Amino acid sequence: MKDSKFCLNLWCNVLFLILLVTFTNAETHYHEFVVQATAVKRLCRTQNIITVNGQYPGPTLEVRNGDTLVVKVINSAQYNATIHWHGIRQMGTPWADGPEYVTQCPIQPGAAYTYHFTVKNQEGTLWWHAHSRWLRATVFGALIIYPKLGVSYPFPQPTTEIPILLGEWWNSDPMDVLRQALFTGAAPNVSDAYTINGQPGDLYRCSNRDTTKFFVDSGDIILLRIINAALNQQLFFTVANHKLTVVGADAAYTMPFTTRTLMLGPGQTTNVLLTADQTPGRYYIAARAYASARNAQFDNTTATAILEYKSALCSARKGFLSKPTLPQLPAYNDTATVAAFTTQFRSPSNVKVPIEIDEDLFLTVGLGFVNCNPGPQCQGPNNTRFAASMNNVSFVLPSTTSLLQAYYQGIPGVFTTDFPAVPPIKFDYTGSVSRALWQPTFGTKLYRLKFGSRVQIVLQDTAIFSTEDHPIHLHGYHFYVIAQGFGNYDSGQETANFNLIDPPKRNTIDVPAGGWAVIRFVADNPGAWLMHCHIDSHLTWGLATVFLVENGAGQLQSIESPPADLPPC
Ligand code: C2O
Repeated sequence: MKDSKFCLNLWCNVLFLILLVTFTNAETHYHEFVVQATAVKRLCRTQNIITVNGQYPGPTLEVRNGDTLVVKVINSAQYNATIHWHGIRQMGTPWADGPEYVTQCPIQPGAAYTYHFTVKNQEGTLWWHAHSRWLRATVFGALIIYPKLGVSYPFPQPTTEIPILLGEWWNSDPMDVLRQALFTGAAPNVSDAYTINGQPGDLYRCSNRDTTKFFVDSGDIILLRIINAALNQQLFFTVANHKLTVVGADAAYTMPFTTRTLMLGPGQTTNVLLTADQTPGRYYIAARAYASARNAQFDNTTATAILEYKSALCSARKGFLSKPTLPQLPAYNDTATVAAFTTQFRSPSNVKVPIEIDEDLFLTVGLGFVNCNPGPQCQGPNNTRFAASMNNVSFVLPSTTSLLQAYYQGIPGVFTTDFPAVPPIKFDYTGSVSRALWQPTFGTKLYRLKFGSRVQIVLQDTAIFSTEDHPIHLHGYHFYVIAQGFGNYDSGQETANFNLIDPPKRNTIDVPAGGWAVIRFVADNPGAWLMHCHIDSHLTWGLATVFLVENGAGQLQSIESPPADLPPC
């Protein structure tokens, strides 16, 4: 009797200690982000861009699972600004999500707002970026979440870790590029360069002195945390002569698989292991476009960085360092390579995919056109203005308050909740679409979800203008990608092929060009959550919708009250 009581006490103490250790291990990280104009030189010219703290890319945030981030954003720039923590679930903290007019009004020039949130059960590579107009072209950085202290990776411990941010560069202010496109109704000017950690690399004018270099030792195991922060372009990524083993994506671990080439849609992240097992030397890391739309302009340049073995430098006589080896990249429109790559993603077992479904949505995603009177503001194809939509609704952001505020405070007239669960008309989505179906309607239509509902969404690309790969990102959630394919989705045929065992968990899914993808999640996070194409030109044209997830039972399942410093509109 006495013994068992003693045991009980012992266990209590052990448990208490474990709790204490867990509790005290979680840290709070305070940061100050000053959004400001900064002069930088790229491609032979000096230009003012908007940065955070004068850095391009912006500061890397490093935290552990369970830590809290408190980031005071001070807007010293001439544009409105907000910061979004891409992929952070924001469980219980929807006011910290960041998309302007969705969860907050923008931080106006001269104003500040403090984002406060805790990382809950997430590990891997995420990133942060501005979520106001096109500010994110230059306002972005890595957000790295390490496992809790004492927890290791589910793969060999790397010798080094390298964040790699792929960006897109214009020889002009991206906000001007946007302004011009909004005026003319035409497609915005394509970028002038891609960048790797802020540098375009050796293949561009005036750039080779500053090419990004990574120095490694033979035998090193390197964890590359690759982030596609490009504004409007899917990118292929490869390293000359080296194999890449994918171990994670969008802050979720994956079953490891080996590949030569990655493809990342804007918004996506991929973690890969690279072993420095080649002849000591210099190898190019390269990124260039995967451009799936037909007859659309794109930036066809190639960004490079250099992977350099330190011993190569020592053994080479000064000035005799060999030219780095250039890798092979797939053709710009190589959709087959993309499909072969993306269909290899699997979760590492024991995932809880919702089996029963409460909400069954079918969303067309694609471009559209608005007919207009020929003139300077009607410069899209055949006297039109470009638009984009989901289920034929081109999403319009409010301007007087945010959707979350309007919902929380019951402000009428800001949005409606009649976003359609299916397209208004069924048609041959990926075939030749009649012109009568090209013009979307405009509106601020949200879709309501009951707390805890199990949601399935079929995302179906359309051929309006052209079939095209769309990276669809959902805020506030991770989802399982249970199927994808080409052509028109056919539920009768496809349900039998759903992967409900080990589908990959993501926050951004590249819907195949001329195809479809099926995702599932449980609506367990109340708030107003944007779902949109992460190609910013498409988002600008309205390729978005918002899920309004209702409160559940009790305080823990309800939206907290807004912070006192939430910016006014
Ligand atoms: Cu990466 Cu709406 O965001």
